[in-house]
Parts: sequence; C-alpha cells; structure tokens
Amino acid sequence: MRELKIINAFLVNDGKISKEDIHVVGNKIVKIGNCIKSSDNAEVFDATGKYVFPGLIDDQVHFREPGLTHKATIETESKAALAGGITSFLEMPNTNPQTTTIKEWEFKNKLAEKTSYANYGFMFGGTNNNLDQILKLDSKRVPALKLFLGSSTGNMLVDNPEVLKNIFENTDLVIAVHCEDETTITNNLKAAKVKYGENIPIEQHPEIRSENACYLSSSQAISLAKQTGARLHVFHVSTAKELSLFRNDIPLKDKKITAEVCIHHLWFNSKDYKTKGTLIKWNPAIKTLNDSEALWDGLNSGLLDVLATDHAPHTIKEKLNSYNKAPSGGPLVQHSLPALLTAYHQKRISLEKIVEKACHNPAILFDIKNRGYIREGFFADLVIIDLDKKHTVNKKDLLYKCGWSPFEGTTFKGIVEKTLLNGQWAYNQGKVLPKSAAMALIFDR
Ligand code: DOR
Repeated sequence: MRELKIINAFLVNDGKISKEDIHVVGNKIVKIGNCIKSSDNAEVFDATGKYVFPGLIDDQVHFREPGLTHKATIETESKAALAGGITSFLEMPNTNPQTTTIKEWEFKNKLAEKTSYANYGFMFGGTNNNLDQILKLDSKRVPALKLFLGSSTGNMLVDNPEVLKNIFENTDLVIAVHCEDETTITNNLKAAKVKYGENIPIEQHPEIRSENACYLSSSQAISLAKQTGARLHVFHVSTAKELSLFRNDIPLKDKKITAEVCIHHLWFNSKDYKTKGTLIKWNPAIKTLNDSEALWDGLNSGLLDVLATDHAPHTIKEKLNSYNKAPSGGPLVQHSLPALLTAYHQKRISLEKIVEKACHNPAILFDIKNRGYIREGFFADLVIIDLDKKHTVNKKDLLYKCGWSPFEGTTFKGIVEKTLLNGQWAYNQGKVLPKSAAMALIFDR
C-alpha cells in the first residue's frame, strides 16, 4: 500500500498548533508524531515552515449539475474546491431538475461518482409536496434536508405553513434553511420599483432583501424548530440582529439550533457595491460594515458554528445584467481559505478557529464519518499551507467554469500549496492532478 510521510509540519488541529509528522498509509492517517524518516518505500514530504490543516468541509455549495452546466459542473467546481483546500462538499438541490425526488438524488450521486474530484454529499430539497420522499431518505447517505424559506435561484420556496410544520415534526434529518421573509422582500421590491422604476441601484439590494426580512424568517424557523424539536441549521446568517437568536453556552454537539456564516458576508460590506456592483449580489444580501464586524465577533464567540462559501456561480453575462435581472450568487470555493488566511494576518481570526469552523464543526454537525480532523484512523484529507506567500487573484488562474471571481485583483496573504485527498495528492501548486480518490461522504448516525 502507498505510504506517505509528511514531516516537520505545523499541524493546526483540535484547538492547538504543534510541530509533528503525519504518516499516511493508503487513504488513512495511521500515525501522528515522530515518524521514522527512513529506509522504507514511503514518499517523504518535508513540510518545514508550512502549516497543515484538515481538508475543509464546505457545507453549502451550488455546483449546478444537472441542468445548469453553462454556469458550472461538478467536475469544474470540485477541481476549484481542491485548489482552495476544500476536500469535501455538501451540494444544494436547486439544480434542474431539482433534487426533490430520490430518483434525482441518486442520479446526482452517480454523476458525482464519475466526475467529482472531491468528496461529496448531496442535500435533498424539501418542497410543498414531497414529504413522502423525505420520509424515505437514508440518513447515512443524505447529509441534510434543504428548505428555501425565502425564494432564490431555482424557485424552491416552501411557503405552506402546514407542510412546514409537518416536515419539522416528522424528519430526523438536520433541516438546513435559507431564511428571508418573502412578503417583506416583495413589499420592499414594490416600493423600490415605485421609487426607481426599472433602474433600481444595486445599493438597494440590502434594503430590499433587508435585515428585517432575514430576522423575521430566521426567528420564525427557530420558533418552529423549538416547538417541534426539529434539528435546525440556519444557513448564511448575514446580519448582526440575527445573532441574538443563537447560543454559545453549550457545545456544538448538544445544540439543536446551529448557524452558518459565509465568507462573502464576512469579507464584503455595503460599501463594496459601488465598485463590485451586481458581482456581489447575493441572497441574503451583503449588509453593512457593522453587520460584517458583528459576524466576525459571532464566529469567534461561538454564536456562529460553521464557516462555508455558498459557492453559487453564474456566467459573467448573467451577472452583468441590470439589478432586477442579475442573478444572485458568485463563485467562491477557490478563494475562501486564502481570504481567511488573510483575515488571520489581519488579526480577525486565529488559525485554530478557522480549522474549528471550516473543518471540525461541519464534521460534527453533519456526523461526517472519519473526516474533519487530523486524527489517527481518519481519512487523510489534508491541506498544506504557505502562510506568508502572497497571491493576487487573476482571471487566468481561475478554475471556475464561469471564469470570473468577485476577488479578482485582490491580494491574499496565505496560499494553498498542496491538497491531499484520501491519501493521494490531488492539487499541487496551481495544478489539479488527475482524478483518483474522491469518495461519497458517509454520515455516521
Ligand atoms: O445568492 C444566492 N445564490 N443565494 C442562494 O440561496 C442561491 C444561490 C444560487 O443558487 O444562485
């Protein structure tokens, strides 16, 4: 069996940084500690001066397959994920057809088995009329049920209160929710149309998809979860106000209500609409500087549990439409970790906290088997990081099918040098290596 020894690295794991070697045999880590660097047939990688993280687990990506392959494919975006140190992803059901039947869900898995370069899991989409399917899902293979409680790309709004209550009462799965109140948004949009006609400025996006729209929807979902005992995960929290809905006084494994924050809501703020325009149009919208500062605090204090991307590519032609026509979302998987490493240099977050929120916590929250930590017996999903190297994001280096990034021109400090996937090198200094080792994630429930 293939053996690899990564020696002299700074491991960032389990709340500490320590200088240790990692011995990999086949697809697993067999030993952490002093490796004998010797005589055997093992490949030795000397990581002196480098940092090693567990592979990141991104709990919210849109890879657009099937049906929206002019924007992205599982193959193109999973390659970009590896370049960004993301070794496992959970993908969303708003494809075409939507992943709202077991047949479509199985089809997506088959597609990924053939084409994904990274480890994969697919969320199942709830609708106003598919409870029969939800109740038949295999919780060892389905990471969670995704519900759009506000409309976004793909028309998957679940707006029947009876149905919602039924779903919350009857599923044991984690329910991951997109929270924005539809009535509030519709009214705000109507008012903006009266004021601006067809030329609504992008700066109005956070007024239309407002703080109140987020707060109202998140608080309603949380009330329903409390009332029914459901296990709720609130996706992409974007406002300071919503933080009051979450707790940081109990361990993650005991929480029934958890929250995710995404890199764009941390990195950008409403002042950036002026230069980036509709390229940073997201649902939920990027809000004020005060909100993004509060989100960093919420992440550090434990109110927010998971750091993800909500990677949601659209073509540049689609994105450069006028406010009303431009779709929401943008590509992020290749640059989320470099942005976080840059934030570390800016003293916003520690390396240990990045690893906790982007590696350990998604594994705990979704019961992902043997991943998310650098641990003996766990899969060897690892990221080798050069913490001091700078890199300016340039169109020619983008691996996204859509060929653009909201970070173009940004210089990051801290880069992904290599990514190891299930014991095999999968990315090395700008190059994705031939597909070999990707696996379906297993949920240990
Ligand atoms: O901005 C977004 N884009 N938010 C979502 O919830 C969906 C996503 C997409 O699929 O385009």
